[in-house]
Amino acid sequence: MKEQILVTGGTGYIGSHTVVELQQQGYEVVIVDNLSNSRIEVVDQIAAITGTRPAFVNLDLTDSEGVCTFFDNHPEVKAVIHFAASKAVGESVEKPLMYYHNNLFSLINLLDQMHEHVVQHLVFSSSCTVYGQPEALPVKESAPVQKAMSPYGNTKQIAEEIIGDQAQVSMLHAVLLRYFNPIGAHASAKIGELPLGVPNNLVPYITQTAIGLRAQLKVFGDDYPTPDGTPIRDYIHVSDLAKAHVTALQRMLEKNQKENVEIFNIGTGTGYSVLEVIGSFERVSDQKLNYKIVGRRAGDITAVWADTQLANEVLGWKAEKNLDEMMLSAWRWELALAKEKGNL
Ligand code: UD1
Repeated sequence: MKEQILVTGGTGYIGSHTVVELQQQGYEVVIVDNLSNSRIEVVDQIAAITGTRPAFVNLDLTDSEGVCTFFDNHPEVKAVIHFAASKAVGESVEKPLMYYHNNLFSLINLLDQMHEHVVQHLVFSSSCTVYGQPEALPVKESAPVQKAMSPYGNTKQIAEEIIGDQAQVSMLHAVLLRYFNPIGAHASAKIGELPLGVPNNLVPYITQTAIGLRAQLKVFGDDYPTPDGTPIRDYIHVSDLAKAHVTALQRMLEKNQKENVEIFNIGTGTGYSVLEVIGSFERVSDQKLNYKIVGRRAGDITAVWADTQLANEVLGWKAEKNLDEMMLSAWRWELALAKEKGNL
């Protein structure tokens, strides 16, 4: 057994896939989650995939005493992968204080107690949202961070700065991973994205429409300056993204970092339009999707995709799955959910 790793938000979408990859690489995992946007059954599903049940602690990281007690009780924790955060862009505009409170107090408590308990390695889940609409594409890590378009995006920017400042004055080492658009589900279809209520993101909305949970997908605008008029994003399979965390962790544990804080784009390096994503879904699921073009969604940018050279060459990680594989896994997950609910 390798080192013990704390995964905050480990029952969530990206967290659960990362726990699976960590366990499969021989790490011992302790999950901390307050289950505010995930289900405890995910722990059983992880155990069903890997054959090992990760330890689970129900804890809200904004509870500073609780975080201290957690580290007191888990002296073997060697590193932290920090996912736990609120992530709905629209909700963050409605409730900014809730977002700043939850996302930033959690991080501060974690860093504080990591320092107290001499835990020196952190992988942080950041977002390509920090680039806004970049001037040059594909976007490099050196591109300027632009004013955030939402409190959610701002919490990611501020969190990056907090980690950077703390690393200047402590033994903290961190890797900040800027994700592009994570989609899809584990090949087993035992874990995947579980949006509460109406999904905001494109792919769960597509699969929920196809399964009959939503009447029709709205495509937000076809008048963008792109080849087919719909916005372009860099969609990345969640298991590829999960593997990037394990690689980042190994880099720190093996002391291969060139700087105390390193930043990597985690995407495929290829951009697809909304209509191309729909086309891929129709191809792999062998059905037509009911959709219509409507007006633009406020705050959407035209196009972003990653320059992945640093991740490929320095981190030594590369995304493997193509768009059709991503969409097929998303569809299989939706089918598995419907089967579980007895709808199929
Ligand atoms: C969004 C967030 C981003 C966050 C990410 C998390 C916004 C503006 N950005 O990214 O900050 O990090 O989710 O996953 O909310 N689309 C439709 N119809 C839909 C839903 C989406 O046409 O019902 C289109 C959008 O206009 C966009 C593309 O699909 O062009 C992808 O949208 P989405 O999945 O919401 O991701 P982002 O907006 O890129």
